[in-house]
Amino acid sequence: APDIPLANVKAHLSQFQSIATANGGNRAHGSPGYRASLDYVKAKLDAAGYQTAIQSFSYNGATGYNLIADWPGGDPNQILMAGAHLDGVRAGAGINDNASGSAAVLETALAVARSGYRPAKHLRFGWWGAEELGLIGSSRYVSALPAAERTKIKGYLNYDMIGSPNAGYFVYDGDNSDGVGAGPGPAGSAEIERTINAYFTGIGVPTRGTDFDGRSDYGPFIRAGIPAGGTFTGAEGRKTTAQAQLWGGQAGVAFDRCYHASCDSTANINDTALDRNADSIAHTIWALAGGA
Ligand code: PHE
Ligand code: ZN
Ligand code: ZN
Ligand code: ZN
Ligand code: CA
Repeated sequence: APDIPLANVKAHLSQFQSIATANGGNRAHGSPGYRASLDYVKAKLDAAGYQTAIQSFSYNGATGYNLIADWPGGDPNQILMAGAHLDGVRAGAGINDNASGSAAVLETALAVARSGYRPAKHLRFGWWGAEELGLIGSSRYVSALPAAERTKIKGYLNYDMIGSPNAGYFVYDGDNSDGVGAGPGPAGSAEIERTINAYFTGIGVPTRGTDFDGRSDYGPFIRAGIPAGGTFTGAEGRKTTAQAQLWGGQAGVAFDRCYHASCDSTANINDTALDRNADSIAHTIWALAGGA
């Protein structure tokens, strides 16, 4: 898999910040900043040769949008998806939550186009609206899929908050290997977890599992029986002493002190965490989709 250039991911973050600043400071559901964010991502994908579609939905008296992008080719009956929520809360620009995941998934999609990669599976990318109001966009996407289309999706990779300033390296616990918390994900989730962990092992970064607790857009996918996985660098929870020994950073401090706050700006990003997680997305897609 190619290295995903951190500078390119950060350039997308700067654009999302500018979009928020020009639109009342946020990119929330129903706001002009959300629509401008969607238009930004769509234009990049269209220029790279993706087939894009906007799925509109209504929620809370406002129109929301998902963006779906298909890379032409691959086995149409074996689909690998990756996605991120594109909306933020009203309090701020939502750069770690979740321009980080949106930008890293976008740059990985653009890397697919640049590299001449011919994946064996069909690749599809999704940017979800109204996650912050209860996983609304991703729920609408999954519920609108005919059963025959759902079963073609062999995996969904979710990226929500992947540049937390006081980062942890969490991988969704698809196999429930720790035996605690939420149970395992649908069959196939364990393979996704192992594939992500193999990348981090290769760069010498230890990971820990995080449960499928329903707080991000993998939720509707696993409820539909679709294997899922992904990474997360922590939200409002505080890093423990043991975690600070494992990963560095500050014990007793939140992974993201600006979670859902006005200070979630471009300053609220750990470049090392963002870089590693973006590279992990490419590794995981190339490994799981197969082909060369
Ligand atoms: N989805 C949460 C939010 O957007 C953040 C979160 C992501 C929490 C992943 C737990 C796991 O606010
Ligand atoms: Zn959030
Ligand atoms: Zn989020
Ligand atoms: Zn596990
Ligand atoms: Ca567990």
